[in-house]
Amino acid sequence: MQDKKRIFSGMQPTGVLTLGNYLGAMRNWVALQDEYECIYSVVDLHSLTVRNEAKELRERRLSLLAQYIACGINPEKSIVFMQSHVSAHAELSWVLNCNTYMGELSRQTQFKEKVSKHKDNINAGLFTYPVLMAADILLYQTDLVPVGDDQKQHLEIARDIAGRFNGLYGNVFKIPEPYIPKVGARIMSLQDPTSKMSKSDENSNAYITLLDSPETILRKFKRAVTDSEAVVRYDLEEKPGISNLMSIYASVTGKNLDDIRQEFEGKGYGDFKAAVGEAVAETLRPIQESYNELMAARDYLQDIMKKGAEDANRIARRTLGKVYRKIGLQ
Ligand code: TRP
Repeated sequence: MQDKKRIFSGMQPTGVLTLGNYLGAMRNWVALQDEYECIYSVVDLHSLTVRNEAKELRERRLSLLAQYIACGINPEKSIVFMQSHVSAHAELSWVLNCNTYMGELSRQTQFKEKVSKHKDNINAGLFTYPVLMAADILLYQTDLVPVGDDQKQHLEIARDIAGRFNGLYGNVFKIPEPYIPKVGARIMSLQDPTSKMSKSDENSNAYITLLDSPETILRKFKRAVTDSEAVVRYDLEEKPGISNLMSIYASVTGKNLDDIRQEFEGKGYGDFKAAVGEAVAETLRPIQESYNELMAARDYLQDIMKKGAEDANRIARRTLGKVYRKIGLQ
């Protein structure tokens, strides 16, 4: 029996991570590696729900793997792999599709949002996306899934599918629980601090990416939206911009909000923004160095992918075999 609880999570290879992805999710994934048995996937099959250039997708999935590792995911400790390298994901996904109701998928808020955004490509994959996600999680008999608010409903669907399947066929799947981090930073847009920082924002000044140069980082913070009070204090209602910058600063320096308020007492926003920009650039510097090294060492990345796929495949096949036996395909 394994003694550590198992964690599974994944991100889509849609581009470079933002500071929000890093502080809100990735840094947490890194921290979980000591206490849990972690499995982190680059969920490249999920990204087929939108159209991609083959060449770009190939590059983005490798880049995301390199970003995982540059941020501190340790392939010696955790299983890191490409979803498409483990065919059990697609196989289990089909079985689960046949055990999922149109009705429960119709209630997804994310699908409704995507439909209104991608009117020209409302494909069936977009609709059954949570079923593939359920397959990802259930294949590994996952205990805990660290997910943001936007994915809670999908995890709920995975739990429902698993519970129903177990009800019909006996105990096949572990029912996964959401993992809520003790301190999770929710990083907002630098241009509209009432909405989440997102790399799909039209205005690139709204987000910082993991690979932005120090100059770009300083410039983006300089342009960040604030208010006219000229006092650095935390007040989400009245001062969402400054409060967001304070959260970011707290998150990268480890200082608390009260210390930050005191540090900038009597100083202007210019000084504060420069300090936040410098602290962020300093945090990202070693990550960028490591990323550049990794991207220049493609063979090493290939080796990691290969080993990750083997380890993941071993666990996934066991669950898929169990499923196939229960339903009569074996
Ligand atoms: N749907 C998730 C997202 O867009 C990515 C994802 C796919 C995932 N499979 C998963 C997350 C399994 C956690 C567990 O962010």
